[in-house]
Amino acid sequence: ERALVIAVQGVFFNAYFFGYLISPKFAHRVVGYLEEEAVHSYTEFLKDLDDGKIDNVPAPAIAIDYWRLPANATLKDVVTVVRADEAHHRDVNHFASVRIPHPFLTPFPDQSMCICFVWIGSEFSDDFDLSHVSC
Ligand SMILES: [Fe+2]
Repeated sequence: ERALVIAVQGVFFNAYFFGYLISPKFAHRVVGYLEEEAVHSYTEFLKDLDDGKIDNVPAPAIAIDYWRLPANATLKDVVTVVRADEAHHRDVNHFASVRIPHPFLTPFPDQSMCICFVWIGSEFSDDFDLSHVSC
């Protein structure tokens, strides 16, 4: 089973890598939809917690530490912040897809592609230095 997971990851990684080379616009759109599916899955998870189908146990210490949650946080709190994070990933990827010029319809990409990557960089790093960006 572990070998199967590694094999599937290897195929996906390479397929996505070449897909990204062919069309970053399409690649970001795909990831945007994958992240949207994650948001949906976590929403179902929250419904099951609310319905009592899954016990709302105390959050594990590693989750409290990583997500900077209060010491008395529960599983529902963890799922809520993870879902918000996935929603952010969805928005970033759909935004990237919109801003990246079409590979075939836009022969001379304008500055929007650069602006897009600068924006993504600033979203993922608090230390992102915009002073050296020249586009
Ligand atoms: Fe994500």
